[in-house]
Amino acid sequence: MKKVTAFIGSQQKKATYRAVQEFERNLKSYEEIDFEYIFFKDYKLEYCKGCKLCFEKGEENCPLKDDRNLLLNKIYESDGVIFATPNYAFQMAAIMKNFFDRTAFLLHRPRFFGKTYTVIVTEGIFGGASIMKYLNSLGKNLGFRVTKGCCVKTLEPTTELQQQKITQEVKKASSRFYKELTSSTTPTPSLFGLMSFRMARTSIKELLDDSNMDYCYFKESGWFESDYYYNISLGFVKKLAGGFFDFLANQMIKHR
Ligand SMILES: Cc1cc2nc3c(=O)[nH]c(=O)nc-3n(C[C@H](O)[C@H](O)[C@H](O)COP(=O)(O)O)c2cc1C
Repeated sequence: MKKVTAFIGSQQKKATYRAVQEFERNLKSYEEIDFEYIFFKDYKLEYCKGCKLCFEKGEENCPLKDDRNLLLNKIYESDGVIFATPNYAFQMAAIMKNFFDRTAFLLHRPRFFGKTYTVIVTEGIFGGASIMKYLNSLGKNLGFRVTKGCCVKTLEPTTELQQQKITQEVKKASSRFYKELTSSTTPTPSLFGLMSFRMARTSIKELLDDSNMDYCYFKESGWFESDYYYNISLGFVKKLAGGFFDFLANQMIKHR
């Protein structure tokens, strides 16, 4: 059975929670799913101090002792994750952003390949589209298989028409998520994804050494030699583009 975890940025069990509940109902109409709700408010998560020990020496050196690993384990144990947040001042709720700050080392050493990811944003009036865009970009950079989520308007009192739109949007988002969750094909990277990988690995290889965790992680993962983070046939054009990105990254480092 597939395991799906919803991470919720709202402090209340209101609009965001209701949207996730609809999403869950839709998913379960396809097949039995082990579905878990995680409210960030129920976990202890300190603010990042910016010491960079996680980047440089490894995440186990973080001086903050709290529920970070417990939350991360929830992702490791899941086949799919949903990040659901209200729009607060044109951004995700701070409590959720804090989680992404505390796990930013994963942007250097992504590891969620094969796991499906989507986003639900609820808002009164405006700003949610850019939050979705940002959260999608985080998901991609963390290695997830990102599917288009939804941004729904929840201005109170909710009209019948508004509720119908929410139901429709959530239904479409859950259908896309389910399709990816159950897909057996390995996605080929986009040109941008390929460029990000090649630029990152060249910088890490040329500028760091084995006293640095990013360097060791890339080396142990075989990423200094591989075409991409995971085994995938790139095809002629992307293979060529990959070589060009390696060359470009080397030039940029030489002339910085
Ligand atoms: C502090 C705060 C800031 C908000 N900022 C925005 C905003 O910038 N744009 C917007 O459209 N809605 C904004 N809203 C409305 C919420 O995004 C909306 O009501 C959301 O559905 C609340 O989710 P919840 O019921 O799960 O708490 C804000 C609400 C709060 C409490």
